[in-house]
Amino acid sequence: MQYEKALKYNIEIVNQKIMGPNPLKLEEELLKDHCIAPGATVMDLGSGQGITSVLLAKEYGFKVYATDLWSEAEENQKFFAEMGLTEKEIIAVKADATDLKYEKEFFDAVVSTDSYNYFGRDGSYLDEKLLPFVKSGGYLYIVVPGMKKDCHDHLPEELLLSWTPEQLDYIHDITYWKNIVSQSKDCELISIYEMESNEECWNDWIRCENTYAVSDRKAIEAGACKYLNFIAIVLKKK
Ligand SMILES: C[S@@+](CC[C@H](N)C(=O)[O-])C[C@H]1O[C@@H](n2cnc3c(N)ncnc32)[C@H](O)[C@@H]1O
Repeated sequence: MQYEKALKYNIEIVNQKIMGPNPLKLEEELLKDHCIAPGATVMDLGSGQGITSVLLAKEYGFKVYATDLWSEAEENQKFFAEMGLTEKEIIAVKADATDLKYEKEFFDAVVSTDSYNYFGRDGSYLDEKLLPFVKSGGYLYIVVPGMKKDCHDHLPEELLLSWTPEQLDYIHDITYWKNIVSQSKDCELISIYEMESNEECWNDWIRCENTYAVSDRKAIEAGACKYLNFIAIVLKKK
């Protein structure tokens, strides 16, 4: 995979802002053949410190609502301004994905990179908490860190070098995610597949010097990627 859009960004800025495996590369692959019109109003759900939202605004021309719980909206808006983006192009919002306050049917699309696994593991989430804010015909593009095959009953030692069984409970295989999203009556599953991005995104992450990246090094350096993948999920609201 060539990451023409992701690689335009200064690596020092990217490393300061990312919170996991290179989300710019993941998002670029996720959106390779996307169906969202330029100028569309798009929610970046679980946007973290906003680097993926910048990509959505600058490279795809979307009007972005960078929506996140753990980061501070004011700080993210300041970062957007530093990246040359105005509030007409991108807005930072601090919100819980399970209690969104947007107007109903406000969004043309939702993009979510490396965060849906925190709040979307309940089969009722889509219909009750997220889809009400999406227009009929709107697309949802989601990428989650996954497992090639669920192995929670016999976790490989490479994974346990960096993560506890409780932390690994956020990570599942395609069968698991297909079952979760198929419970929605209000959207159609367009596709779910294992992405090409894997080791390269993890390796970008463990080269960062932040505490979380450093603690993930042991597992990745021991070869944990052979059990891991990234899963793309594309949904369309009915
Ligand atoms: C691993 S970080 C990824 C952030 C960003 N997408 C990126 O890749 O740089 C996971 C993000 O999920 C967000 N998150 C977790 N639970 C959430 C919730 N209930 N509502 C909104 N965001 C949530 C956190 O705030 C965090 O920023």
